[in-house]
Amino acid sequence: MDKGDWAIIVHGGAKAISAAETAAHRAGCARAVEAGAEILARGGSAVDAARRAVVILEDDPTFNAGQGSVTNAAGDIEMDAGIMDGATLAIGAVGAVNRIANPIEAAAAMLETPPILLVGKGAERFAYKLGLHCTPPRPTLPKIGVSGHDTVGCVARDRAGHIAAATSTGGISGTVPGRIGDAPLPGCGFYADDAIGGVSLSGEGEAIARTLLGARVVRAMEDKPAAEAVQDIHAPMQRLSAEAGVIAIDAAGRVGAAHNSENFAFAIASSDRADIIAAIHQDELKADILND
Ligand code: GLY
Repeated sequence: MDKGDWAIIVHGGAKAISAAETAAHRAGCARAVEAGAEILARGGSAVDAARRAVVILEDDPTFNAGQGSVTNAAGDIEMDAGIMDGATLAIGAVGAVNRIANPIEAAAAMLETPPILLVGKGAERFAYKLGLHCTPPRPTLPKIGVSGHDTVGCVARDRAGHIAAATSTGGISGTVPGRIGDAPLPGCGFYADDAIGGVSLSGEGEAIARTLLGARVVRAMEDKPAAEAVQDIHAPMQRLSAEAGVIAIDAAGRVGAAHNSENFAFAIASSDRADIIAAIHQDELKADILND
């Protein structure tokens, strides 16, 4: 990828996707990646593209984030989100929030503040001051054919070579109130550094955090392309008998995606591809597409 080129990859969660839900997952990821690609193509920043793509995924009830969030054991929605600017290493994240329509917007606003993570009422108060406060998303009925964990995310590289990563989730269905997973924890559910690359993850948050899974893939991108580095999720997840999926873009703009879950919805766009690729399994992609 040459200087001035851009790339973006989004995911809609590592999980089982029923035949009835396949089209919605492909279409939702394609819509999100297209919106981010439009920003990157006109010279916008990786942070803006990643934030916009995740807002679209949060607004799509197909996915477990924002409006599509699952409920915890008390019947409440508690959402987590995090975003990182690989140019400055600024981080913004919120945890266990309810009265915010798009948690990724609150996380992005925190890129400008000294704290990197606010939770619960403190995060909601922060969002209120910005006008992001709202009535909570309405709990939806349990989703048929979808396992109890998934997340959305995006990694983008802009024309200036800056990389951003963003992740947002409604957490795990039926979990204990107050539980926070990997999504708002840097090095776990997301990370970005222009010098190396960026990642966004989905899967069992506790296992992802215990193994610092995001950091492992970033560390691997110091030595190998994104498409190879993402394979480093398999051994730690096997050790803990856990499921995860990851998307990545390395400093050279190469993309990668891997998962050990039954499915993983994702979509890719870049300045050197004619069409958007939207998939629900890594095997849909030819090795040469991910190894470019
Ligand atoms: N990966 C989402 C969560 O565990 O909360």
